[in-house]
Amino acid sequence: MTKFVIQGGTPLRGVVSASGAKNAILPMLAASVMASSPCVFHSAPHLSDVSTMVKILERMGAKVERGGLNGSTLYVDPTSLNSHVVDELLMRQVRSSIFLMGPLLGRMKKAQVSYPGGCDIGQRPIDLHIKGLKALGAHFVEEHGHILAERTKWQGADIHLDIPSVGATENIMMGACLADGVTIIRNAAKEPEIVDLQSFLNAMGAKIRGAGTDVIRIEGVKSLHGAEYTVMPDRIEVGTLMIAAVMTRGDVLIENAVVEHVQAAIAKLREVGALITVNGEGVRVRGVERPRPTDVKTLPYPGFPTDMQPQMMALLSIADGTSVITETIFDSRFKQAEELSRMGARIRNEGRTAIIKGVPKLSGALVEATDLRSGASLVIAGLAAEGQTVVGGIRNVDRGYEKFEVKLRSLGADVVRVASEQTG
Ligand code: EPZ
Repeated sequence: MTKFVIQGGTPLRGVVSASGAKNAILPMLAASVMASSPCVFHSAPHLSDVSTMVKILERMGAKVERGGLNGSTLYVDPTSLNSHVVDELLMRQVRSSIFLMGPLLGRMKKAQVSYPGGCDIGQRPIDLHIKGLKALGAHFVEEHGHILAERTKWQGADIHLDIPSVGATENIMMGACLADGVTIIRNAAKEPEIVDLQSFLNAMGAKIRGAGTDVIRIEGVKSLHGAEYTVMPDRIEVGTLMIAAVMTRGDVLIENAVVEHVQAAIAKLREVGALITVNGEGVRVRGVERPRPTDVKTLPYPGFPTDMQPQMMALLSIADGTSVITETIFDSRFKQAEELSRMGARIRNEGRTAIIKGVPKLSGALVEATDLRSGASLVIAGLAAEGQTVVGGIRNVDRGYEKFEVKLRSLGADVVRVASEQTG
């Protein structure tokens, strides 16, 4: 197993750029199966989740290649697609494979998927995805752990989501592109990745408007062609780097940050005392001697993102007082608390609430990443801790952070990637 060995205590200083957004490129790769000609994605991050989605597309007959500067361009040719079946083993590795249902129903009139895997952060139902695609005309059969969806007619519909689910919004939006007539998605999720997906789909010839608001309108078209697109910067990586800068009392400029996408993080970090200046070239973040405590409640965008909750927990564990975190999106996203406690943090979980009594310093320890964002929170805690921290399970971090240790080292951090002795 790969791990990071971190010597804490060095303030992060310098200029860094975020990679392309994981949660934008993944639905776009799913959408590409609907294209009648090749697609090109620039700023396509080297992430294991992206590699898994690429393997899924290749198993279905698509041809995918990497090229461009530092291999940051993905060329996807879906014209040789010859299957509607999503590889079960690969699907268990990455949740976003569920995004293929809508596009496959649109293009192939059927889709076979299994229940998706993904992070270990609690219940990950897909009932809203299924409800929305049923409204468009899909029929679902479950057998032997597989879900087979088929459709004859594919008709626009007026769909209200019980929860503003990011994935369900994206799945329905993609499927509706090739439906007859108009689809309205109400109580849609408003995340920036959905706006990016709308832009990509419209570049393919779709007719969508309203992404970023809670009502999205999709006018079905007969076909979609390929498109060339540059993926938006990853706002969660930006937020993670911002928190790392504050936690290490550093001074970091994240030069390609889209300020609008990280307003909730900017507000929260100013509450704890960070000095944040925004200008045309991104976000500059300066840390403080010791952060003040504050309360955090995760909410759908534009609220404070759940994907930055574990990182915020690390920061608040060294605040000068008691903070309360309320996680409203997922029912088991405090796994990092136990690992942070090994470093001296004082955190008490009560259901979806965590009470954090700040301590002056964390101490280095052996800790284990259980999912992507809890892994990131342990890495940044190690950067600020006294002594050496070894973070195991780094494969989780590699799912969503491109060359994380390289970026951190470029800012002065003492972090080394170590492949473990035992193989496998
Ligand atoms: C996306 O997951 C992101 N993943 C997650 O990022 C992110 O945490 C989440 O949105 C919320 O912002 C990708 O985009 C690949 P949801 P998704 O559907 O679509 C419930 C990361 O770290 N729900 O918005 O799965 C669900 O249980 C990952 O990058 C249903 O009840 O999230 C949850 O409580 C982690 N039924 C809530 O909605 C459904 O059919 C929000 O989930 C679907 C979801």
